[in-house]
Amino acid sequence: MFNLILFGPPGSGKGTQSEKLIAKYGLKHLSTGDLLRSEIASQTPLGVEAKKIMDKGQLVPDEVVIGMISSALDANPNAKGFLFDGFPRTPAQAEALDKLLELKKTSIAVMLALNVSEEELVKRLMKRGETSGRSDDTNENVIRARIIEYRNKTAVVADYYYNFDKVVMVKGEGSVDDIFKSLSAEIDQRI
Ligand code: AP5
Ligand code: MG
Repeated sequence: MFNLILFGPPGSGKGTQSEKLIAKYGLKHLSTGDLLRSEIASQTPLGVEAKKIMDKGQLVPDEVVIGMISSALDANPNAKGFLFDGFPRTPAQAEALDKLLELKKTSIAVMLALNVSEEELVKRLMKRGETSGRSDDTNENVIRARIIEYRNKTAVVADYYYNFDKVVMVKGEGSVDDIFKSLSAEIDQRI
């Protein structure tokens, strides 16, 4: 199994690059943001509660996303590997993920961290907000709240994986194809 974390702030291109990477490497894409939005679309109790938090640009509770990831891992016993997008976002989530993977006799091979300036993040998300229908993209204050939440709670997750020498920083600005080539080169060295 080959498991990787695609890491980076809101708007850094995790979703865009994930689509290309799963197609190239045959990995199963696990995006907690996508899983939460599908709960919202189905109007489940979890989705209704999560939406209130997501619309403020804050993180939903650890136990909620850890539960979703645990179910998704169990639901895909034959996966060649997993690409985690938007998870883990706190040290508690990272520790929980390590334990879940250990139970399955596997681990994280690498964290690829996309590096993008804050002005570019806001610009990309404001632009997407014009068409995406994502309620957390329509208001600059919410976009900035998401970035602050990333800085305060999520950026430290990279330190957690640095301790295991698993982090590679990748330039996240430039063309989608050039960034994809950089990410692929890192994966090819390890897969
Ligand atoms: P989530 O869905 O994970 O969103 P996010 O991390 O805020 O980031 P985005 O999905 O908006 O950005 P992205 O990095 O995927 O970039 P994308 O490829 O889309 O989370 C949403 C919410 O759910 C959170 O705020 C939280 O409330 C909750 N949540 C989710 N996971 C959680 C967790 N683990 N714990 C707690 N709460 C959780 O690209 C962005 C835009 O830029 C697109 O329009 C794209 O076309 C464009 N773009 C991409 N690449 C380029 C490029 N190279 N040049 C120019 N434009 C580009
Ligand atoms: Mg995304």
